[in-house]
Amino acid sequence: MKHPVFAANWKMNQAPADAKAFVRQFLAYFPRQQDRLVLIFPSALALHAVTDALKDRPDIQVGVQNIYWEDNGAFTGENSAPIARAAGAKYVLVGHSERRHVFGETDEESGKKAAAAVRAGLTPLVCVGETAAQRDAGETNAVVIRQLRAALAGVGPQHIASSLVAYEPVWAIGTGKTASPADASAVHTVLRAELRTLTGERGEAVPILYGGSVNSGNATALLAAPEVDGLLVGGASLDAEGWASIVRA
Ligand code: 13P
Repeated sequence: MKHPVFAANWKMNQAPADAKAFVRQFLAYFPRQQDRLVLIFPSALALHAVTDALKDRPDIQVGVQNIYWEDNGAFTGENSAPIARAAGAKYVLVGHSERRHVFGETDEESGKKAAAAVRAGLTPLVCVGETAAQRDAGETNAVVIRQLRAALAGVGPQHIASSLVAYEPVWAIGTGKTASPADASAVHTVLRAELRTLTGERGEAVPILYGGSVNSGNATALLAAPEVDGLLVGGASLDAEGWASIVRA
């Protein structure tokens, strides 16, 4: 039985002082647990505030929401994997829907980011998911497999085995619509098969998270679905009490 993974993607929310207050409140609602992994992805500018507030809680790990693939140099405004790692991040989101659809990130760029993450000792959480139009056209499986393969193209089998994957249908993000547990499970099964193709038996251990309008009302049912190993939560992770109730699901 895998330990479930609960990941909070704060997106462009929570300034350092808010992040610190959030963590203090969250810790009061969520005593230390051995049987689940909690990840928080704050703004890079709040990373220090969060890692500092969590220094006595190794059960809660911190990551960044994005990196650039070069290690350093003249790339104004970007953060690299080694800089994120040195600043206290252990994880990084790669290929999030908003990076793809708001900022035009390509499959190939997601691949370069995942490879850079692994080189620097960051664990990538690779996000994949189809748009509503792709879903209506019956292309969901082909899209998520293409995105997964591209994101992991530069990552060796051993590091794929220690990565995480999230299925986040674009039409479910921030819309209040979620995939049904059965639909999520069906796509996760496809992703699992692809992970096995890429890494053999080790692919079995890769946590596959579901994301898209997860809240405290639907978390338990989604988490109970076969092949759903955790949840990646946006809006509902911004309230400390609500987030704690999801993490206790
Ligand atoms: P919401 O939970 O706000 O739909 O966002 C999901 C998401 O994009 C998490 O990465």
